[in-house]
Amino acid sequence: MAEQANSSGLEDEFATLHEFVKAAKMKLSPERWDYVVGAAETETTLKRNRYAIDSMAFRPRVLRDISAIQCTAPVMGKKARLPVMLAPVGGLERLDPDGAAAAAKGAGLFGVPQMLSSVSAPGLEATAKASSGRKFFQLYRRGNDQATDEIVDRAVDAGFEAFCYTIDSAFYGRRERDISRRVSNRSIIDDGGDYRQQSLSWSEVKRYKDKHGHKLPLILKGIQTGEDAAIACDHGVDGIYVTNHGGRQLDHVRGTLDTLPEVVDAVRGRAQVIIDGGFYRGTDIVKALALGADTVAIGRLYLYGLAAASSMGVARVLEILEHEIKTCLGLLGLDGFAGIDKSFVHPAPSLTMPHVHSAFPLLNLADEGYGGR
Ligand SMILES: Cc1cc2nc3c(=O)[nH]c(=O)nc-3n(C[C@H](O)[C@H](O)[C@H](O)COP(=O)(O)O)c2cc1C
Repeated sequence: MAEQANSSGLEDEFATLHEFVKAAKMKLSPERWDYVVGAAETETTLKRNRYAIDSMAFRPRVLRDISAIQCTAPVMGKKARLPVMLAPVGGLERLDPDGAAAAAKGAGLFGVPQMLSSVSAPGLEATAKASSGRKFFQLYRRGNDQATDEIVDRAVDAGFEAFCYTIDSAFYGRRERDISRRVSNRSIIDDGGDYRQQSLSWSEVKRYKDKHGHKLPLILKGIQTGEDAAIACDHGVDGIYVTNHGGRQLDHVRGTLDTLPEVVDAVRGRAQVIIDGGFYRGTDIVKALALGADTVAIGRLYLYGLAAASSMGVARVLEILEHEIKTCLGLLGLDGFAGIDKSFVHPAPSLTMPHVHSAFPLLNLADEGYGGR
């Protein structure tokens, strides 16, 4: 496939990813900025995501013909322009008036799938209509089985290609940036007091697979151990999504790149492995693929694009990411993802103080408040 041209039209305005972080911070109110960049309690989990990525060095190979590099890869069984998708994010309407529809447009324009959050406006059907790009649907399960079944049917009708349960949110993480402002986001995942999230168990996974598995593949988002990955595969789950919710749920867990190898070992090719958490640069994504992930989801990174420049901002973030990935692959002596494996990476001490924006050293972290207020 010939390389696709950039179509965002924002090449001059945004030449590097950190420019999007700056522009987003300029546009967002302090409350909304904190909603995006914040994490739970001490924010150690968020920092560990970056630390794990920064603690991996490359082992480049040389003198291989890399004159034609292909960055495409399958995502959930179909070719995508990058092995990347947009992570599900609630409340996108806080960042752009068109919310999830604008994000869908940007992802579709570029050519990667979007996973739509069940708590992002304008909702399932309107978001599906906004773009012809591929879409997966993520649900915080509320209500009874019938309510879930209705949502699955709506997702099928609207053309979604996969269904995802987020399973790490039985309790709402204590995000102190929001709590200290007395801002409540609980409604986003609260289930009206019937505690459906807390009573979720493997029996619902079995019920879904029996009833809907033939219509819509199932992804479980929130797997953090090889043990649970193995149980999920035994239940026929199609996608194992390794995540700690960008550090927003349980504090003090491992960085996701540290978790990945045991999950890949447990899955043994039985399901697609998706990962997210701190993947903000092309090199980050290549490291995850080297360690066995099939797809990397980006969260905050595309939120900066969306907040800064709506759907075209999302597309431009992806274009820059593609450029970084292509540069990385070429300098590793790879002409695509087909030949990548763990021989291309090696543990190495991190040289960076991990931080939500430590991947962007051109930001003046201390003086301009990119971490704080
Ligand atoms: C503002 C915000 C809202 C989020 N909302 C959801 C959500 O509705 N459903 C969900 O499964 N995960 C949600 N997440 C978690 C993301 O899907 C993803 O796991 C996380 O952002 C990845 O980390 P990263 O932002 O460092 O890339 C949210 C994350 C952020 C930053």
